[in-house]
Amino acid sequence: MAETYRCVVLARFVDGLAGPDDFAIEIRPVPEPGDGEILVRIIYASLDPGGRSRLSGRVSYIPPLALGDVAGAFNIGQVVTSNNEAYATGDLVVCSFGWTEMGLSKGGGYFAKIQASDLPLSTWIGVLGVPGLTAYFGLKRVAGIKAGETLVVTSAAGMVGATAAQIAKIMGCKVIGVAGGPEKCAWLRDELGLDGAIDYKAADDLGEAIGAAAPDGVDVLFDNVGNRFVDTLLPRMNMNGRIVVSGQVGDYNLAPEDVHGIKNTRVFITHRVRMEGLVVFDDLAQFPAAQAEMAAWIKAGKLLYREKIYDGVEQAPQAFRDMFEGTYFGRHLVRLAPEP
Ligand SMILES: NC(=O)c1ccc[n+]([C@@H]2O[C@H](COP(=O)([O-])OP(=O)(O)OC[C@H]3O[C@@H](n4cnc5c(N)ncnc54)[C@H](OP(=O)(O)O)[C@@H]3O)[C@@H](O)[C@H]2O)c1
Repeated sequence: MAETYRCVVLARFVDGLAGPDDFAIEIRPVPEPGDGEILVRIIYASLDPGGRSRLSGRVSYIPPLALGDVAGAFNIGQVVTSNNEAYATGDLVVCSFGWTEMGLSKGGGYFAKIQASDLPLSTWIGVLGVPGLTAYFGLKRVAGIKAGETLVVTSAAGMVGATAAQIAKIMGCKVIGVAGGPEKCAWLRDELGLDGAIDYKAADDLGEAIGAAAPDGVDVLFDNVGNRFVDTLLPRMNMNGRIVVSGQVGDYNLAPEDVHGIKNTRVFITHRVRMEGLVVFDDLAQFPAAQAEMAAWIKAGKLLYREKIYDGVEQAPQAFRDMFEGTYFGRHLVRLAPEP
């Protein structure tokens, strides 16, 4: 085994869109696992929009990174050496070490063996991982969606959005996706079978476009983008509507004072609308049951997913930038080692 490994650390606090100049590659010695510790070789690292909120040095819902810290991410890895009786050499695990080729853990936090499965390994960090589960619990627990309801999903071609849109279709809802560009909208309509797809970049008036696609109003907004879209959608919400605040990909790169304000709040009273956020780990105990249900949908061809895979840990900062710019779509991953 190599004596050193590479990782990507935060080189300066980020203002606006993060990119390669904000990070540095470090070479570190491979640590020797101590009592109870597990050494993991990372196979995949994720690019997560929410990771942006840790890069400015400001307090968010997760603590900010300090300069020199490894950039955060979810991972799939393989145990290299284990001094922990719950894990053996060769075990495949989901974990959260970040943009790094190796990680050392005692097995706490988000660290779990991957259940035997005939699905591709990368699904465990994508459609069956944090983004897919955010869609699942956002719809089922937070929104409590019901057959026949009308749902709008923003950033609908992303992994969270596309998974939410398809689960809602499986559950018998009418689903309108909002995404940037004709290629993404065509995929939502033609491949995922959504009832409508709106290109927000081309729409003169997004509220009117949604009104035309959902003339009877919107029961559930599953929002991944942030305040501007929430404010636009609020006047379209039906009685007892629910807004799931999944993420704010349109706001993460803005200074707090530049984030769009929400003005259309009277709808909360007149239409008894509820707006609620989630952190997917609140549902950690229910992950295996949700993953089993979603795996069955994937195998039945009812739940599709797309991935954009980069090779090499040094690609992570550019991949992170591409993800925000919407250059590609689906789950963005970096492959750091070949799959076993
Ligand atoms: N609550 C939780 O526990 C939890 C867990 C995981 C993820 N999340 C959240 O879920 C959301 C989606 O995550 P994801 O991994 O699937 O990423 P994603 O939706 O693929 O995010 C990247 C996409 O966001 C869109 N975007 C970027 N800037 C935008 C802007 N200013 N306005 C509108 N759209 C913009 C772009 O798509 P277009 O080309 O369509 O513009 C881009 O491709 C994120 O906000 C994330 O933070 C929440």
